[in-house]
Amino acid sequence: MATIQMLVGLLLLSDLVESVSRENFKTCNQSSFCKRHRRLRSDASPYVVLMETMQIQPSRIEVQILNTKNNVRLLMQVTAIKDNTARLKINELNPLRKRYEIPVGDVLVGEPKTQDMKVLVRSGSSISLGFEENKILITSRPFRVDFINKEEPVVSINAQGLLKFEHSRERNPPQKGWLGIWFTRGFSEGEEEPKEPPMENQADKKKKEGEKKGNEENDANEPETWEETFKDFHDSKPYGPSSVGVDVSFRGFKYVYGIPEHAESMALKTTKSGDPYRLFNLDVFGYELYNPMALYGSVPVMLAHNEKQTVGVFWHNAAESWVDISFNTVDKVADIVGRGRNERPQTNTHWISESGVIDVFIMMGPTAHDVFYQYAQLTGTTNLPPMFAISYHQCRWNYNDQGDVENVDANFDIYDIPYDVIWLDIDHADGKRYFTWDARKFSNPIEMVNNIASKGRKMVTIVDPHLKVDGNYRINKEAKDQGLYVKNKDGNDYEGWCWSETSSWPDFTNPKVRQWWASKFLFDDYKGSTADLFTWNDMNEPAVFNGPEITLHKDAKHMGGFENSDLHNIYGYYMQQATAEGQLLRSNNKDRPFVLTRAFFAGSQRWGAAWTGDNAAEWSHLKVSIPMLLSLSLVGITHSGADVGGFFNNPDPELLTRWYQAAAFQPFFRAHAHEFSKRREPYLQPKKNMQVIRDAIRARYSYLPLWYTLFYEGEQSGAPPMRPLWVEYPTDKRTFKMDDEYLIGTSLLVKPITEKGQTGTHVYFPGKDQLWYDIASYNSYKGGQSTYVEAPLSKIPVFQKGGSIIPRKMRIRRSSGLMKHDPFTLVVCLDKSGSATGSLYVDDYNSFNYRKGEHLLRSFSFQHNEFHSRSGDKFCSFSTKEWVEKIVIIGLSARPTKAILNVKGVESSLQLSYSSDNNQVIIRKPGVNIAKDFSIKLS
Ligand code: NOJ
Repeated sequence: MATIQMLVGLLLLSDLVESVSRENFKTCNQSSFCKRHRRLRSDASPYVVLMETMQIQPSRIEVQILNTKNNVRLLMQVTAIKDNTARLKINELNPLRKRYEIPVGDVLVGEPKTQDMKVLVRSGSSISLGFEENKILITSRPFRVDFINKEEPVVSINAQGLLKFEHSRERNPPQKGWLGIWFTRGFSEGEEEPKEPPMENQADKKKKEGEKKGNEENDANEPETWEETFKDFHDSKPYGPSSVGVDVSFRGFKYVYGIPEHAESMALKTTKSGDPYRLFNLDVFGYELYNPMALYGSVPVMLAHNEKQTVGVFWHNAAESWVDISFNTVDKVADIVGRGRNERPQTNTHWISESGVIDVFIMMGPTAHDVFYQYAQLTGTTNLPPMFAISYHQCRWNYNDQGDVENVDANFDIYDIPYDVIWLDIDHADGKRYFTWDARKFSNPIEMVNNIASKGRKMVTIVDPHLKVDGNYRINKEAKDQGLYVKNKDGNDYEGWCWSETSSWPDFTNPKVRQWWASKFLFDDYKGSTADLFTWNDMNEPAVFNGPEITLHKDAKHMGGFENSDLHNIYGYYMQQATAEGQLLRSNNKDRPFVLTRAFFAGSQRWGAAWTGDNAAEWSHLKVSIPMLLSLSLVGITHSGADVGGFFNNPDPELLTRWYQAAAFQPFFRAHAHEFSKRREPYLQPKKNMQVIRDAIRARYSYLPLWYTLFYEGEQSGAPPMRPLWVEYPTDKRTFKMDDEYLIGTSLLVKPITEKGQTGTHVYFPGKDQLWYDIASYNSYKGGQSTYVEAPLSKIPVFQKGGSIIPRKMRIRRSSGLMKHDPFTLVVCLDKSGSATGSLYVDDYNSFNYRKGEHLLRSFSFQHNEFHSRSGDKFCSFSTKEWVEKIVIIGLSARPTKAILNVKGVESSLQLSYSSDNNQVIIRKPGVNIAKDFSIKLS
């Protein structure tokens, strides 16, 4: 056994394996529940609504659904949720065993707020309900539910008839001759036994028919329903089949997005000729691109968009899931609103989960921003990160010792390159025993962290979930003694293999375990930690090197007796939560936490940042990072990034440079590299590349006020800082698939160079009548068209929207911390009418005091030759030393000669300079504190 473990370990450690070992991971066909659902015929739904059982409450309908094939009854609840959202939940009416549901308050921030519905029409075969501008139509035979917004049917459930709910059952029911063979399952309450035992040949025939139709009766007959084997791994499946699935049609929609994490384009593709998209948190070594295979995180949220509307669906289920997608150009289903239209695009999706219940939220939009808000009401938003977290991070596996850290830190200063955080990977700990230090390499961690912190910088250490089974390792001993580990199927502590060799995994699904884990971050407990030390949670899918598909066994047991198969995808979520809560605990809820996670689920945004795992130093990986981050952004994981430079292998200087340029304009900006890759810190690059990388990082620092403002707005509204173009230009069809360029907020357009040797690119400038200004030259480009833009190595194609005002800080220092009190430069790019608006959010950049009103929100405008800075929020106040140093105005039609500043009625004249290139006007030193209202009149 040890030899096998060593081999697996070596394989994972090695840099030689370039692409994924596909045989390690299941296809749909190798996953019995996926196979059973996928073979369902789309027009044979056996489910009917028992209208006579309907109970109507003000905001909810409850009604039974009958499977006419086996007489099992389900209970459906349809609820109207505040803010244009509906919820549809289906569970067994009489389950033998409680099915897993994610506790309210975990992924859902609370019980969703409901609203009243009106019964519009009710008959023996259907009922239609109304709320806001929506109708919900429930049809009895066959069962289906349609969601209609402003008379447009937008989402339908079970319109394809793919509902399948594997009810709970006993194993080995009494054998009754052929019956016992035919039905190896028991019979639930309400389910009729067949009247006559079938003859031998009839049974065979029936079985074959069943396989063809995929009907529910014969599922329990298959060997894999009560136990399943993949490679040498056995899943004991003590509870038998328990999967659920149903189709969701997006009516009138040709484009769907979301359901990360996949190395895939932003607009999702049909899965007709391959596997469905898989959602199962896995450590996939050397992942392939443009592929539906599962990766480290899962967010079961899909958005659909057309010129008129955006809608979204959230599948609230933490078990392994698969999603099929197919596109139809003609909606064959009769138009519910009876307008006789028959040509509409339609996207049919099929959602399949290994267990749990069907719990779907339908977010009716109608705009993308509405969907972001609706989803935020359910699962929360990205908490405003501390400023250092959105600055530049320097990581590698490993910085070997204190001397190494000091050296890297010093070199950044020597080469005048800012950075905020230096990271330590697994080898900083004593034998990968997390929460400890290897004393030979890190003899004085507190001093080391303090030295780093003296320059306004921070450190991060890695803390993985696999705890070394070692009686002398205190953390392991505590977990073992207190019974905090995940159990194996026999009830003993689960043991597997990971970096720390034989290890066990805390059961983070248990709130008591999370509390214990959080307490490990107290300064007294985690020796060598300080308030400037933050955390990286890796391998938390969790990765188990000798487990099935490199993860936990499906029959491993969690709190409440639930199996890992019931909740696999939420393990990493809970770990990041517990870690963030630890950081909150140690600071008495004063300082904002920062935790990076590899595994995530819906709602993980509340606990910190995520990254896209082990990519490679290849141009194709740089290119795919954009759609991957856009997909994450669309479903709430808005503080996300990819390893700059690529984790595996060695980028050449050109690739590394282009990667820095792209990532400087992406939400989470961290360089990271595999332990066998060559050192590649920016200052080690050839001079020209080093300078360009330095400029890219400095550009990031200059735009930090914009990023910070966007993260603040995102905390309020759910809107992601990094956005696909269609979010802001919803009627422009050309943008619907565009995932090689993107927006930051509404005011910056970014088109990274992602091809070797490329020295220019076609940029699509959205918005007819819009102007876009190159941020370096202020050259202007017209919207609504594609234009070729030169982009030699030194250039990042980034453009500011005409009509926007962007706050920047131009005095770049060693870290964002040292720039805290520095003044702002406001860049005003005018639209065709000579106007612009913008905003700025300011606080202490670190604590939670902003939630007590200690912050500023400034609102800027320029119109009729007058600039105004006003308070954007009367209910807050904050005093800061930051002030306005410069205002740059681009696009004025006439050259001004005078600038008069007005602060509280007191006027003074300001210095002006003008450059005829691009009509650039610079107003120098208004000198006003940023908290103050002021205006400047040009004439
Ligand atoms: C896998 C992570 O994805 C990678 O970033 C890290 O460096 C290694 N584990 C070692 O901790």
